[in-house]
Amino acid sequence: MLKIKDKELATPLLLAPMAGLTHSALRTLLLDFGGVGMLSTEMLSARKLPTENPCVSPYLVRTPLESPLSYQLLVTDVEQIEPAIAAVHRLSADVVDLNLGCPAPRVRKAGGGSSLTDNPDRVHAIIRAARSLTDLPLTAKIRLGERLDEAILRDFCLMLQEDGIDLLTVHARLRGEPFGRKPRWQWVGKVKEWLDIPVVANGGIFSVKEAAQCLKLSGADGLMIGRAAPQKPWLFAEIAREIYGVSVDVCQINLPWIYGRFVLGLARFRPERRLGRLKEFTHYFALNYAFGHHLAMAVQKSSTVLTAWKQALDFFSRSDAEKLKDVNVGEVETALLGKLGTEIKERGQYRAQL
Ligand SMILES: Cc1cc2nc3c(=O)[nH]c(=O)nc-3n(C[C@H](O)[C@H](O)[C@H](O)COP(=O)(O)O)c2cc1C
Repeated sequence: MLKIKDKELATPLLLAPMAGLTHSALRTLLLDFGGVGMLSTEMLSARKLPTENPCVSPYLVRTPLESPLSYQLLVTDVEQIEPAIAAVHRLSADVVDLNLGCPAPRVRKAGGGSSLTDNPDRVHAIIRAARSLTDLPLTAKIRLGERLDEAILRDFCLMLQEDGIDLLTVHARLRGEPFGRKPRWQWVGKVKEWLDIPVVANGGIFSVKEAAQCLKLSGADGLMIGRAAPQKPWLFAEIAREIYGVSVDVCQINLPWIYGRFVLGLARFRPERRLGRLKEFTHYFALNYAFGHHLAMAVQKSSTVLTAWKQALDFFSRSDAEKLKDVNVGEVETALLGKLGTEIKERGQYRAQL
């Protein structure tokens, strides 16, 4: 099984960090199904992290079940490392990951994500600083680079290893390549050959078949799964069972129930932080239905999380009525109103919201 430094994972299946998606509600939903070897936060600004309040910050809210949990840092300057590492220690991180692959223009402009790969000296300084400040497993996530160039990629990966990275995840696409492009899993295989540390393949895994194909082409030590997590939260369990022979219970897939579990998890966040996260999740989850765009659109147009939930129930009553019977609708609404109730009542909107 996959080991990161001295930490052995139950399965070599990692949740990919995803902004707006990999928060506590999604992570606990994945735990309902099992098979995930390591969970992740979304990218956390190393500059802001030291002052975030972990009790209310939607990026940091976490239940004790969510472990092992990797904290991904978005670093733009070596100066940020010391306070950020102190913060992840306070937060009981199991692993620290460095984001070296994000292609978002906003992130690149600030000097973070994939823009760091243009500046190996700065990456070297950042990793050296982080390595000297923590004994936690230190990992990094990259894309294949600006263009396909074995020499550049090899030198960069070897530098990461020499500087003390314990595991490298490779999103098998170039910086500018959209998700629609087939991932270049065989390039992860090249990285695997160059390095001694474990290499994890990422990109385009939505089924057991794709997981097997990716492993065949890359020879990777593990797989990291992103968008399939909110779409098919049971996929980790399937891959763990069918590819790695791990004993994970087979769960019934009841989509309305899964949606309800996710909404229940959202109750951990402050009311104003819930709706955006529900919309983000629904965008992927709705792909499970032939007419899922109706669900996605209805939730997208909703102005409160309770309206969105009602819209979802309406959709399920038309598309998945039998399975909807297993959903404890009252429990979800009570959870949402538990923290919202007073506020909504005060605004005199209680009836309208329901
Ligand atoms: C909505 C969204 C947000 C993302 N946010 C991050 C992030 O915070 N950090 C990161 O390293 N990658 C981020 N990614 C990239 C994913 O981690 C992953 O590399 C990519 O989605 C490919 O994997 P997949 O095909 O399994 O989704 C994000 C991707 C998506 C779709």
